[in-house]
Amino acid sequence: PTPIILDCDPGHDDAMAILLAVGDPRVELKAVTTSAGNQTVEKTALNARRMCSLAKAFDVPVAAGYLKPLTGRLLIGDDVHGETGLDGWDFPAPEVPLHSAHGVDLIHNLLADSPEPLTLVVTGPQTNIAGLLALHPQDKEKIKEIVCMGGATHRGNTLPYSEYNILVDPEAAHEVLSSGIPLTYCGLNVTHQAPVTRDVLQRITDVGTHISKASAALLEFRSSTYDQIWDLPDAPLHDPVAIARVLDASLVECVEAPVSIELHGEFTRGATVIDLYGVTGRTPNAQVATRLDTERFWDVFIAALTALG
Ligand code: BDR
Ligand code: CA
Repeated sequence: PTPIILDCDPGHDDAMAILLAVGDPRVELKAVTTSAGNQTVEKTALNARRMCSLAKAFDVPVAAGYLKPLTGRLLIGDDVHGETGLDGWDFPAPEVPLHSAHGVDLIHNLLADSPEPLTLVVTGPQTNIAGLLALHPQDKEKIKEIVCMGGATHRGNTLPYSEYNILVDPEAAHEVLSSGIPLTYCGLNVTHQAPVTRDVLQRITDVGTHISKASAALLEFRSSTYDQIWDLPDAPLHDPVAIARVLDASLVECVEAPVSIELHGEFTRGATVIDLYGVTGRTPNAQVATRLDTERFWDVFIAALTALG
């Protein structure tokens, strides 16, 4: 299996990404670190512990990262994810403890101890990864690739042209992009190809386990907020798409393209400017996801849920 570290901000779709990473044998989840994003970093760390406990991933360390973005104030996503960051299910106290190290130190130590380069999957704001690269520039040699959920080839969701994860910390996304580490963007244009339809919810429920019941309830909650905000009751399951790309690259088709992060735009701060047609003449610096094999994606997700028992 591919060893990965998941840096996330659970968050309902991050929570499903944790389940997918634990349940699918093609990746080995070495750690979960959390960023400040959908909720404060205390809450996202608690939610990661809740999900690892639910998935019985008792040996996966969970550590909290930075409290806020590199610049400016944290913009939480409580409109989508609620007061806890994971509203819609009553969790018991998590059995998985909070790791004593800072998330960035945990990533650094795992990279140092690993005989092979590790893959980072980043499904929240990229603050922790930017911090890691600032503190330990040499760590990039130990990172095989970064696969992130973020941005969009077209429009955004939090501002007209800015996707949430990038908008929360554009400077961090810019640093990560400039690092030269192989980077794949799974943006809204591809994650919207994974809508949680009634049929998908039924398949999740039909798995018939405690975990599937909790997942269905969490996804029902998020669909209701998506419906209120964006008139989109079949809310897309963004973050697991980044895991899917690592599980089987053929699930998520990509093209190489030049990507830049807008840091200064009056109306477009946090936008991912993706030159799909090569009109700028800039050198491609990232893989950009364009197409999801939706049918196989759901099969893989349901299989992982089933495997969790
Ligand atoms: C991203 O924003 C967050 O709210 C989700 O967890 C996902 O990572 C989608 O724009
Ligand atoms: Ca997220």
